[in-house]
Amino acid sequence: MSMDVHIVVLAAGKGTRMKSELPKVLHHVAGVPMIQHVLAQANTLSPKSTVVVVGHQAHAVQTALEKQPGLTFVVQEPQLGTAHAVLTAESALKHASGTLILLSGDVPLLAAKTLGKLLAVHTSAGAAATVITAVVDQAHGYGRIVRNGEQIARIVEERDASAAEREIREINSGIYAFALDGLFAGLREIAAENAQGEYYLPDMVGIYRQRGQRVQSLLIDDPDQIRGINSRIELANVSRLVRQQKNESLMAAGVTIEDPATTYVDSTVQIGADTIVRPVVSIEGTTTIGRGCVIHSGVRLVDAQLGDRVTILNHCVITNAEVGDDATVGPFAHLRPGAALRRKARVGNFVELKNTVVGAGSKAMHLSYLGDAVLGDGVNVGAGTITCNYDGVNKNRTTIEDGAFIGSDTQLVAPITVGEGAYVGTGTTLREDVPAGALAVSAGKQRNIEGWVEKKGRKKVKA
Ligand code: UD1
Ligand code: CA
Repeated sequence: MSMDVHIVVLAAGKGTRMKSELPKVLHHVAGVPMIQHVLAQANTLSPKSTVVVVGHQAHAVQTALEKQPGLTFVVQEPQLGTAHAVLTAESALKHASGTLILLSGDVPLLAAKTLGKLLAVHTSAGAAATVITAVVDQAHGYGRIVRNGEQIARIVEERDASAAEREIREINSGIYAFALDGLFAGLREIAAENAQGEYYLPDMVGIYRQRGQRVQSLLIDDPDQIRGINSRIELANVSRLVRQQKNESLMAAGVTIEDPATTYVDSTVQIGADTIVRPVVSIEGTTTIGRGCVIHSGVRLVDAQLGDRVTILNHCVITNAEVGDDATVGPFAHLRPGAALRRKARVGNFVELKNTVVGAGSKAMHLSYLGDAVLGDGVNVGAGTITCNYDGVNKNRTTIEDGAFIGSDTQLVAPITVGEGAYVGTGTTLREDVPAGALAVSAGKQRNIEGWVEKKGRKKVKA
């Protein structure tokens, strides 16, 4: 008997109950389209092939998954039900033998361990079909497992169930193992004689049983794993569970999460031990955070790379940027793509950085815009400093060399270089390079006109 494993993922349905322009399986759970969670589980079985059945907005689903290697797409058009969906995969599995694992694109929480168990149970029983089931409090919307004694007899959909059958709390997960041998012939026997007029895959169970073929079930004790997403409410519930799992695995690895309920960490994020995450924080995408960092409330990190012992104070947004060891950012700072803070650099409130390197130990503590700039080490950028990097046509570079001191309210009209150790006086508009060690000033001499207020008859400001 062939031990090959093939995967089919059903993702052709419209997802009517989502009330969405976006295909259901592309709605995000923990930062990635829900179907990606399903495909990641599938990969743990090292399948010989993985077929994704697409249909409704097939192109959008296929495009979203085009970077995933090893997928075969088949198009189900029109979508006549889950059994019909599996039949459309027949051509892609023509020469396949062994076991077919059937997954649903809208059931993203299944543990890899459970899938392994499904395969083991199915194979050791030599079953024609094995279905994962669970006993739940709220069975509404799921197919019910009808048993004849111990044996599973058939599966009935909610809409077609009798009142008594609706009382059954053992549900169909929609996840199965099938022996490929005879599967497609069996599927062709399924009729669309039900409330929805669709070809139901769960009917395979009844067909096999009537023929006296072996149908096995795997009852799992954690029903959360097989929650399907059919509506926005279910999407939120499942997302909360995924978040919870991610937070728990981070905490188990030594990360302090002060308030897991308001901490949103994508499954793709990595965080080192002894980092503290304060409440109401969103950490997304490919973000990595080192050890011993503190991420304060109101922070959003997207594809950010943080070293060790970094402090991000409240209400910062950091996107596609790097923050080196022992650096501090915020509060209220905005690090845009290409921003990079080296070791011990500090960026304070209302500072925006774009495509700018801030050298080791350098500081820009207040109210600045630094774009397309390279700051050396030990640079001090005064409050209100602006790089005028855009002349209306081109983006130009600013270079500030090691140890330079930029006085407050300076405008650097790029392209421009401030040499090593140079000083720039307060309120300077720099249009030309400043040599190393020089002082640059551009403001005119101050004049005071004595007695001006009295002479103009202006009222003195009252205390
Ligand atoms: C299905 C099962 C139900 C089970 C539940 C578990 C059927 C008839 N019912 O119900 O017993 O308890 O899953 O979550 O199978 N799809 C296609 N082509 C189609 C129809 C659907 O590819 O023609 C895909 C959908 O995109 C989805 C999956 O199949 O990913 C399941 O379809 P859905 O309509 O969500 O089935 P449920 O009503 O949830
Ligand atoms: Ca479903």
